[in-house]
Amino acid sequence: MKVIKISDLKVGNKFTKPLYLDKDSIFINANTPVSEADITRLNKFGFKEVLTLGDLVQETATSDFVLDTDSFPTNDHDFKILQLKNTYLQIEKNVPAFELVFKDSFVVMQALFRKISEDKAFDINPVRDTADKLVDQVKTNPHLCYCLINHKPSGYYLYNQVVYASFFALTIGALLEYSRPKMIELAISGLLADIGMAKIPSVISEKNSTLTDDEFKVIKKHPLFGYQILTKVLKLKNTLGLVALQHHENFDGSGYPQRIQKKEIDEFARVFTIADNFAAHILDRPWRKALLPYEAMKNMISLNTNKYDLGFIRLFLNKIAMYPIGSWVELSDSSKAVVIDSNPNKPLRPSLMVVRNSNGIKTKDPTFVNLSEEDKIYITKAIPSDD
Ligand SMILES: [Fe+2]
Repeated sequence: MKVIKISDLKVGNKFTKPLYLDKDSIFINANTPVSEADITRLNKFGFKEVLTLGDLVQETATSDFVLDTDSFPTNDHDFKILQLKNTYLQIEKNVPAFELVFKDSFVVMQALFRKISEDKAFDINPVRDTADKLVDQVKTNPHLCYCLINHKPSGYYLYNQVVYASFFALTIGALLEYSRPKMIELAISGLLADIGMAKIPSVISEKNSTLTDDEFKVIKKHPLFGYQILTKVLKLKNTLGLVALQHHENFDGSGYPQRIQKKEIDEFARVFTIADNFAAHILDRPWRKALLPYEAMKNMISLNTNKYDLGFIRLFLNKIAMYPIGSWVELSDSSKAVVIDSNPNKPLRPSLMVVRNSNGIKTKDPTFVNLSEEDKIYITKAIPSDD
């Protein structure tokens, strides 16, 4: 491969083949102009060169690259650190598309809930389109977990909750190797799971303090309301309404409204209830702050073990991991870092980008650490993000 110094890259340069950060990772596709932001990012993360099998498209300069293989890492440790930098660059590239999908989904759900609460006619197709976009994200964004954990939700919590929960449900669906049509059905039924809340008076559904027993009785009607809206008003097939009807049923039979248990509960509903609860834990509510993903996970496995289908929750928690990608941690030297990659064989020793040094000062150039290769430093606790 040809090595091209970053200092020789010019905005607008295009190459006949992709530019790589290492032999596996494409940074810029073939015939795509290099942008100023690309160069800034490469410099920010300390890249000195990129690689390509192609040639500079001859519409700008003729000799804008220099062949030099001397400074490309040859030892394993440096190469792994380079890969971590690359991982973070790829994460940054995936965030804008994710944010757009999240925002669009929020807007669609908001419009839908409002129309239903006002008994107005509405079109279900935007929900189908949204489901399609969510599935695309799950299938094509390898850094979805980072994007979800680092997303800063704004606006009414319920619309955020349904989008988060649908994403997490699809994460489980992907682990269960659901087909695309099945993933789309899971996404639609997840997005519509709480639609019955649109029929609950807002003085109760939006109450900022603890509900009375009578108010909670009203809330408990939302699964049935949702099921009726989906199957009777929208005339969706029964299976698409089952998540709405059963997402508050518990595996041990302690849920509502029917108190059914185990496999009596539809599979999608068993998947969704895990996702829904995790989403609820990590979102701010008027009466409590959002829990850290680490705390949410601990809660779900220690307090409510029998509520969930054990097979599905194991799958989900293994994927999310104790320190999910995108979450923040404090290290034994008091520095603060964000998790950017997992090491499946060493779940407590993920790969990190250090953001604050041990004096609490934001590092100018982020440094990357693969904890699985370090024996002197370790994670002391999960912490909230500070940006
Ligand atoms: Fe619900």
